[in-house]
Amino acid sequence: MTGRIAVIGSNMMDLVTYVTRMPAPGETLAAQDFVMGHGGKGANQAVAAAKLGAEVLMLTKVGDDNFADTTLANLKACGVDTRHVGRVPGRSSGVAPIMVDPAGENSILIVKGANDALLPADIEAAADDLKRCDLILLQLEIPIETVYAAIAFGKRHGVPTLLNPAPALPDLDPERIKDATFLVPNETELAILTGLPVETVEEIAAAARALIAKGIGTVVVTMGSRGALLVTATSVTPIAPVAVTPVDTTGAGDAFIGSFARYHVGGDALKPALAKAARYAADSITRRGTQRAYATAAEFARNLGNVG
Ligand code: RIB
Repeated sequence: MTGRIAVIGSNMMDLVTYVTRMPAPGETLAAQDFVMGHGGKGANQAVAAAKLGAEVLMLTKVGDDNFADTTLANLKACGVDTRHVGRVPGRSSGVAPIMVDPAGENSILIVKGANDALLPADIEAAADDLKRCDLILLQLEIPIETVYAAIAFGKRHGVPTLLNPAPALPDLDPERIKDATFLVPNETELAILTGLPVETVEEIAAAARALIAKGIGTVVVTMGSRGALLVTATSVTPIAPVAVTPVDTTGAGDAFIGSFARYHVGGDALKPALAKAARYAADSITRRGTQRAYATAAEFARNLGNVG
């Protein structure tokens, strides 16, 4: 069993420049290398799950440009169901200029373009297919009303939802996300959502519990080199970090979520699914790029020796 996952989210063309250091304001700096790759938090999560063998349906919007064609072709090649991918006349596709430094850290700018045209009506148009899914993945690179509508749809039809509140949005309405089954923020996003301190693991657990008290089922906080924390109403479970030498950390969170979704809907309990996701994300940062760096199930099995 591999499970059926829907992603209602963004796609971007990543324009990635590898720099020796980040430029200072007003500075012109020569960089070593440039590559384009398929990205966007929604599409990244969809592709990670699909490469690992899940059945994945994606609701997204592409623009009226060459990037639209390559994005569609790439999603199809990765095994994602694109029947609900729409084209928006007169808009550019989403693009993300990214800089990656020698330590693998990144700075990302996003231009949402056509992603801004993914609307609640698109959810209704895909309702029959969405109702048959085991999990719906959501992020914040599409209109917020669409995210709220997807959470409400999941609640109405008994389809679990996972919200990855990235990029952080200060005015997210707690009332309208409380019906999400899973919330997967990083520490910064958790701090913005709760207004609480998140320095120590104890503080992170307390902030996650504050969200659970408002109605969210389960919170998984990703903590970079400290691993992750699984927080439910009754338990706090650390997920061990996986040590690798990073080459490019862009899209590691998406690899984590896409792979967690695949393993969990495929039958794994939360803790083992998260432990596998931590290894999958660690493996992805040993290569450049986002979707191009995500392993297939067979590649991941071969790479496991390098990532614990
Ligand atoms: O999470 C990484 C992603 O963020 C990149 O692929 C970029 O497109 C932005 O959406």
